[in-house]
Amino acid sequence: MTHQTSTNYSPPGGKDKPMADVFIVGCGNIGTRLARQWGQHNRSVGALARSAASAERLRALGVEPHRGDLDDAATLHDLPLAGSLLYYLAPPPGTGQHDSRMRHFVAALDSTAPPHQLIYLSTSGVYGDCAGAWVTEERPVNPQAARARRRVDAETVLGHWCAAHDVPLTILRVAGIYGPERLPIARLQQGRPVVREEECGYTNRIHLEDLLQVCIAAARHARGIAIYNVSDGHPGTLSGYFFAVADALGMERPVAITLEQARRQLTPAMLSYLNESRRLDNRKLLRELGVSLRYPDLQSGLRGISVTGDN
Ligand SMILES: NC(=O)c1ccc[n+]([C@@H]2O[C@H](COP(=O)([O-])OP(=O)(O)OC[C@H]3O[C@@H](n4cnc5c(N)ncnc54)[C@H](OP(=O)(O)O)[C@@H]3O)[C@@H](O)[C@H]2O)c1
Repeated sequence: MTHQTSTNYSPPGGKDKPMADVFIVGCGNIGTRLARQWGQHNRSVGALARSAASAERLRALGVEPHRGDLDDAATLHDLPLAGSLLYYLAPPPGTGQHDSRMRHFVAALDSTAPPHQLIYLSTSGVYGDCAGAWVTEERPVNPQAARARRRVDAETVLGHWCAAHDVPLTILRVAGIYGPERLPIARLQQGRPVVREEECGYTNRIHLEDLLQVCIAAARHARGIAIYNVSDGHPGTLSGYFFAVADALGMERPVAITLEQARRQLTPAMLSYLNESRRLDNRKLLRELGVSLRYPDLQSGLRGISVTGDN
């Protein structure tokens, strides 16, 4: 590949030349956008496809699909990963204490022909409740929700493999993602209540476009095992988020109820988010990856947004 891009990422050539420069495991909403961006940088992109429909969708995007299902270990051998920049974006399964998908994937990795670098999209949920404290990457993980324990399992299993085989790994601990097609519009339309802001803990956000530029920037920094908090650095409350989105879209604000009432009315999933409070420190991200956020707070991210879809 001779084309020089602003990313400075050069895939290895020679006998290790991968079938695709970039390979994406879990090429859904974010992966598709990432694939498009790497395509614009003249990089070839391959991806895991667990169904014929997914393969067809990927091929239509110019992404080379390779069939395999992370829930079925036997389907994961012979993926063309040698020398590639590998993004792992697939979520863990919905139950259990372990991320069996990640475990299957790691078991299928070929240590004699490894990827050139791995980037794993994790979540900031691995820190658990921090009672509103500012949280750097130095803070030990303390997952409370089962879904967070599965994330810690994935980080640990992948981290061990990468350390043992000297393959650089970047773990991105991502906050709540929002953007034009990722807004809680349906929830607002349903008129579901939120907790009074005074009783809410802190949550953190990142605009989808900024997350994408972080994913690209991470490819320039292949060094050992590196962890980054990915947030805009301006924490707020979950209810404040719903209010801001409603205001931005000209919709009615949801009714605010007490935490006590919420415990009887809200879904367990929503309550488990409300039980946790932390403020993500994003300074390492800005400093080491050299990222300049386009949307450093919710107000800038929601400016000009309109009703285009839902997440
Ligand atoms: N929502 C947030 O605010 C947030 C915050 C932090 C992190 N994240 C994480 O970011 C990641 C990417 O998010 P996204 O919105 O792009 O997710 P998405 O659109 O749901 O894409 C996930 C992809 O994973 C694939 N996948 C799932 N199970 C699989 C299996 N058993 N075998 C093979 N492929 C499988 C899906 O394949 P199909 O196309 O075949 O369905 C899909 O392409 C997820 O891990 C998500 O949990 C999200």
